[in-house]
Amino acid sequence: MRILVSGGAGFIGSHFVKRRLRAGDDVVVLDKLTYSGNRANLPDGVAFHQGDIAEPADVSRAAQGCDAIVNFAAETHVDRSILSAEDFGRAEFRGTQVLLEQIRETGMRLVQVSTDEVYGDLEGGGSSSESDALRPSSPYSAAKASGDLLVVAYARTFGVNASITRGSNTYGPNQYPEKFIPLFVTNALDGEPLPLYGDGRQVRDWLHVEDHCAGIELVLHEGAPGEVYNVGGGDEHENIDVAERIVELTGADRLLLRSVPDRPGHDRRYSLDTSKLRALGWSPQQRFEDGLRATVEWYRDRRSWWEPIKSGEYRTYYERQYAERLANATSV
Ligand code: TYD
Repeated sequence: MRILVSGGAGFIGSHFVKRRLRAGDDVVVLDKLTYSGNRANLPDGVAFHQGDIAEPADVSRAAQGCDAIVNFAAETHVDRSILSAEDFGRAEFRGTQVLLEQIRETGMRLVQVSTDEVYGDLEGGGSSSESDALRPSSPYSAAKASGDLLVVAYARTFGVNASITRGSNTYGPNQYPEKFIPLFVTNALDGEPLPLYGDGRQVRDWLHVEDHCAGIELVLHEGAPGEVYNVGGGDEHENIDVAERIVELTGADRLLLRSVPDRPGHDRRYSLDTSKLRALGWSPQQRFEDGLRATVEWYRDRRSWWEPIKSGEYRTYYERQYAERLANATSV
């Protein structure tokens, strides 16, 4: 199979690329190489096009001869979407539309990689299933939901062969250190403060990146057109417990943990009903406890990967996001 992986130089996309190469597929990567895209995430020699999914010429050039597109390309960080939502509509809405036009013309298959955040938060019990209403809370999740809606509409109106996956919070090696786990791990390793938003009692359902990719692969091969599949780790934890575990695993000082002013609109809890994907034969293989330990080890051993990232653009973002918050921090 020849697969175009858009956003293939990012965190989840690059793991997917490596898995498909190991499985013997022919893989082509299209990536805009924005701040979080990184050629160092990819093996040497992989077919690579630098370009934008929102540009039809970039997509049709990269998609030559492909049977399928798996789309990881996105602006992915909630906090950045709160600071400025500008880039999110282009990547998520316009970009997805260009991909849909491409598969409409050529008959290729598309898997749109989305997120559990489109369901909004679930205080208390219960889990979101694929037929639930979309109630996004942040500009990021609203933009992702717009892409999902386009995919469903194109499948119904034009009969395109496209499916959607909605993953839960994903972690593992190569994740850009703006996200909770790599931010806390790398800060802990450097003796920097660990900024916990609000009361730290928010719940996220953690999914190892390899399990996430395995779910996407199954949907690529077995998913039905126009259908949505939840991919959730089923490993729900409060942020404060994850933060304390990171402190233990890194051997950092617990005093680094700081309670900082909360994220506006912060979702309290996500949880996914994954029975639809499980019925196709998928289940997560990595327990969070083991996966987190291995991830901490990876960051400990791979300073050469993350130290260059934590300069330049990252520092500017970090100052904007955290300087005032940390000035108003209290101990946990
Ligand atoms: P994040 O990794 O941004 O993923 P998402 O917002 O998509 O769930 O955040 C995970 C959780 O960690 C979320 O509840 C917000 C919280 N968080 C902090 O408490 N401090 C931080 O500095 C960051 C980045 C996240």
